[in-house]
Amino acid sequence: MTDKLIIFDTTLRDGEQSPGASMTREEKLRIARQLERLKVDVIEAGFAASSNGDFEAVKAIADTIKDSTICSLARANDRDIGRAAEALKGANAWRIHTFIATSALHMEKKLRMTPEQVLEQAKQSVRFARNLTSDVEFSPEDGYRSDVDYLCRVLEAVIAEGATTINVPDTVGYAIPELYGNFIRTLRERIPNSDKAVWSVHCHNDLGMAVANSLAGVKIGGARQVECTINGLGERAGNTSLEEVVMAVRTRRDHFNLETRIDASQIVPASRLVSQTTGFVVQPNKAVVGANAFAHASGIHQDGVLKARDTYEIMRAEDVGWAANKIVLGKLSGRNAFKQRLQELGIDLDSEAIVNTAFARFKELADRKSEIFDEDIIALVGDESVTPEQEHYRLVSLSQRSETGERPHAHVVFAAGAEEHRADSDGNGPVDASLKAIETVVKSGAEMLLYSVNAITSGSTESQGEVTVRLQHGGRVVNGVGADPDIVVASAKAYLAALNKLHSKAERVAAQG
Ligand code: KIV
Ligand code: ZN
Repeated sequence: MTDKLIIFDTTLRDGEQSPGASMTREEKLRIARQLERLKVDVIEAGFAASSNGDFEAVKAIADTIKDSTICSLARANDRDIGRAAEALKGANAWRIHTFIATSALHMEKKLRMTPEQVLEQAKQSVRFARNLTSDVEFSPEDGYRSDVDYLCRVLEAVIAEGATTINVPDTVGYAIPELYGNFIRTLRERIPNSDKAVWSVHCHNDLGMAVANSLAGVKIGGARQVECTINGLGERAGNTSLEEVVMAVRTRRDHFNLETRIDASQIVPASRLVSQTTGFVVQPNKAVVGANAFAHASGIHQDGVLKARDTYEIMRAEDVGWAANKIVLGKLSGRNAFKQRLQELGIDLDSEAIVNTAFARFKELADRKSEIFDEDIIALVGDESVTPEQEHYRLVSLSQRSETGERPHAHVVFAAGAEEHRADSDGNGPVDASLKAIETVVKSGAEMLLYSVNAITSGSTESQGEVTVRLQHGGRVVNGVGADPDIVVASAKAYLAALNKLHSKAERVAAQG
């Protein structure tokens, strides 16, 4: 008998808490559609009470997605829980995920509450949530560092109040696989009503063990839900990586004896979409979704794989969606073919006018690049989902001059609201000159934390360059992404995209605040 393992994806909530990874409503909706295609059981769409923007994003996802349960995080108070229910009520199936910290450190220093007060608040919030929905998850934040006797009391009480899922977060990534697995097992053995709830693991990767800890929680502890994110996206060193857990359970079914509902062929498209949307590049040697995950460079390995694939491969690249990297459109493709491909990719542009602009940009790209891949289309329409309010700065044109032995010079024309600016600057290189030119006008004073260039599709210098720029200003960290076959243009677009995010004032309440 194989058991079912529930995959709970929190890319749009815990993943989005990575500095610079915040997403617009449209970006979140696009990722949610991909998560639905991937067949995740639960999508944690956000933290509805944290900001109006997050409320709207959770609501849009709840109103659109049909095949996954939609969940919102809520602190353990009536206002947060009410906001979550309000945002979620249009969904086919929905869950409220409420949490409060239970470690002595968090209760005393952060919450300034006694253990008895925390216990009461946990019970009351689960009771309140259960009056709104039958699907309620409770998380004792910093659960793994909590006193086990106290934690048993809290969890027994919230199960008695009707919590249907109990999640045990290793909030700070402190756990070791065997210890975390035993911790979950102890809780399940000691709590008399533990069989009334599904047990869930939620691990952070500070010591690089989030996946190992989650799997130990499943194997040793008997948890049947894993909370995870695409590409392991998340604050600090990230969260448990969805693709690694799913492929571990599938590849080693002999050991785990568990099934997930995941359509693994959607893993690589999901990874690309999240990376392109957030600007968080996937390291080449990342398991399952890294560019080198299935590449064999040594002659001995190549020879072995050609003779019998399983000599050096334990998974098939095409099973996790690598085959999707194929030419899809070219310069002769018409508007209908373009529109159909958008639909297949789950990209729903708001109006025919936006489809027309995107198609015009596609034609322009196809004139410069003979083969257009799915990744090119995703990058191209990324800009179309930006609303006019979010696009204060927009690149109009750019020219630059660079010659061996000469200092490069750039001339950039860009719009700032209704005004058009022309700016010039020299720089160490053409990219430096272009960004300095923009800065002479904008004077953002932002500090650049990261500048990275990636080829969107591998294989040739014809590929579009995708540039990520991370800026910090006034305590905020934002990422901007820009794509173009000309990497200087891609850099200017990325810089302006990051400035647009700094320009938009949307602030959110931190979940663990
Ligand atoms: O890591 C954590 O403790 C969390 C909870 C809010 C579930 O993300
Ligand atoms: Zn977390």
